[in-house]
Formats: sequence, C-alpha cells, structure tokens
Amino acid sequence: MSAFASPVHSPLNASRLYKDNCQSCHGVDRLGGMEPALFPENLSRLRKNKAINVISHGRAATQMPAFAKKLSKQQNASLVDYIYTAPKTMPKWDLADIKASHIQHFQQNKLPNTPQFDADPMNLFIVVELGDHSATLLNGDTFTPITRFKTRRALHGGPKYSPDGRFVYFASRDGWISKYDIYNMKVISEVRAGINTRNLAVSSDGKYAIVGNYLPHSIVILDTNTLEPIKVVKVSDKKGISSRVSAVYNAPPRNSFIIALKDVKEAWEIPYKNNADFSIKRISTQDYLDDFFFDPAYKNLIGSSREKHNGEVIDLDAGKK
Ligand code: HEC
Repeated sequence: MSAFASPVHSPLNASRLYKDNCQSCHGVDRLGGMEPALFPENLSRLRKNKAINVISHGRAATQMPAFAKKLSKQQNASLVDYIYTAPKTMPKWDLADIKASHIQHFQQNKLPNTPQFDADPMNLFIVVELGDHSATLLNGDTFTPITRFKTRRALHGGPKYSPDGRFVYFASRDGWISKYDIYNMKVISEVRAGINTRNLAVSSDGKYAIVGNYLPHSIVILDTNTLEPIKVVKVSDKKGISSRVSAVYNAPPRNSFIIALKDVKEAWEIPYKNNADFSIKRISTQDYLDDFFFDPAYKNLIGSSREKHNGEVIDLDAGKK
C-alpha cells in the first residue's frame, strides 16, 4: 500500500464498503427492507463489539453472511463506525413510501369469520418470542399452543387486539406493522410505517391504528381494515422543533389517541371520532415527559419529568397543568 492510500476510517471509504457489501440486503442508505435497517436507533440494543462479531462471523441460521475472509479488521471497524453514526439528513419515509410498502397477503372478506380451531375465541393468548422472531397462539383454558408463526424481526410495544378479538396487530423495530387474523391463523396485511418505530395503538372502535416513530420523526394513522395509511404527520412543536415519538396510546373514554413526545415539551391528543382530518390538540407540558400514564377516567395525564425528581399532572380537557 502506498503511503498516500486513503485512510481506512474515512467515511467515504465506509460508505463505499457499505454499498459494495451490505446494501443489497440492508437497503439503499441503510434503510433496510426485508433485512434490518442499520441506523443507531435500530442498533440501540446491539453493542458495537457484538456488531463487529456479527459482521465477521455472520449470524447462524439467518441470511447474514460472514465477512471475516472478505473484509479486514479495519474495514469491519470502519463499517461499524459508519452504521452507528446518524446520517447527516433525516432519512425520508413519507406517505408515498408507506403506500408503496403495503402488502395484502389475503383478502379478509374471503376468509371465514369463525375460528378455524377448537378453543374459546375470547380466551386466547399470544406469546411473543423475541429470540427467533415468532409468536405462539395459546388456548387460555388449557395453555396449549394452537399454532406458532413467524413475525417480523424485533417486535416493539406488545401486540394490540381488535375489539372483537379476531385480529392482532404487531409493530416491529424497523417499522413493519402486521395484521394477523387469529381466526384463520394468517398474516393478512402488512405495511412499513416507519424506519424505527416505538409502538402502535388501536382505537376503541377498532377502525384506526396509530404508529409512533423515532425515525423519521412522525406519527402514522392507518386504516385497520387494510393497513393502508390515512395520514402521516411530521412531529414538531409549535416552534417547529422536531421530535421523536416516545409512545402512542389509546384513551378509550376520550375516543382519542395520546402521543408522548420525546424531545419537546408537548404531548398531543388526536380525537378519532368527529375529527375526519385527525387534527391535533397540542398540550404544553412544564418539562420533557419521560413516561406517563393516565388516571382510570383518562381525565388526567400523570407524567414523570426527565430532569427533576417530580412529576406533573395535566388536565387533558383543559390541556394544562
Ligand atoms: C445476504 C444478505 C445480507 C448481507 C449481504 C449483509 N447482511 Fe447484515 N444481516 C442480514 C440479515 C438477514 C440480518 C438479520 C439476522 C437476524 O435475523 O438476526 C443481518 C443482521 C445484521 C446486523 C445485526 C443487526 C441487529 O439488529 O442485530 C448487522 C450489524 C449487520 N447485519 C451488518 C451488516 C454489514 C455491515 C454488512 C456488509 C458488510 C451486512 N450486514 C451484509 C443480511 C445481510
């Protein structure tokens, strides 16, 4: 190698290495697709030294190949630096991208509307196994498995059910939302609502789902019938400061979704009844709210502050402390 060779750790070099070796599976600009997205948010549970190991040795029983023979240690390290660095501009994932990702595996109205197994349909459990990306449907009376099925990788935030108990919705770390028909034991539709997703909530009437994202800074409202997107909102406060979404909730007595924002001093409420365009009610908070819950009547939101050792109670009707 000449003394003038480009430094191995140059970002340019790493992005070239990425394009040549990783892009075919992990997507243009690290966006992922079928395979995981490679942004710091998506990798938050994987330590850097573990990532080096995955790249060298691959991951057993998956499509992730071993690169030890192809890439030097320095090249591996520069790729790890690259994937743990935030991109200069926020990755784009807008309404058109979401629409284009939509998959209809089965037509819901062509499938039987009764359980195709012998168990009480109102006493079933879904157990999610994170290790190998599967879930098991359990008979709640006997605790025996009815079926086991593949899910998207790394589910976030727990499964959410339709009011009649027939459907369950899953959100994955990489933004995939799946609608599973419990009666017919089939995934019937899927859509990618974000690049890095926190969780989803389903409205009390079962008509809408809302998805909260870290990447991009957005919330997405879906029609639960097909999972097609109805509305995407870029998240920023009154002054235009952009924010990640910590979590989304359904508030049953209010017929609304509540949205917790991570980086600004606001929480949002979106009524889903008599609010055809899903307009947003902004609630200013005294501090950044790290986590919150509601009183049983969903009249007040009780939040814990990130910085101070105290909490905050916000009257949701008045929209203030
Ligand atoms: C042939 C497809 C393919 C190629 C090429 C590929 N990967 Fe992967 N990679 C995967 C799959 C599939 C997984 C998920 C494995 C699993 O299910 O745990 C993965 C997982 C990973 C993970 C772990 C992610 C996590 O959240 O645990 C890292 C890091 C990674 N790949 C980096 C790379 C890098 C860097 C390259 C290029 C040098 C690369 N991969 C090339 C398919 C691929």
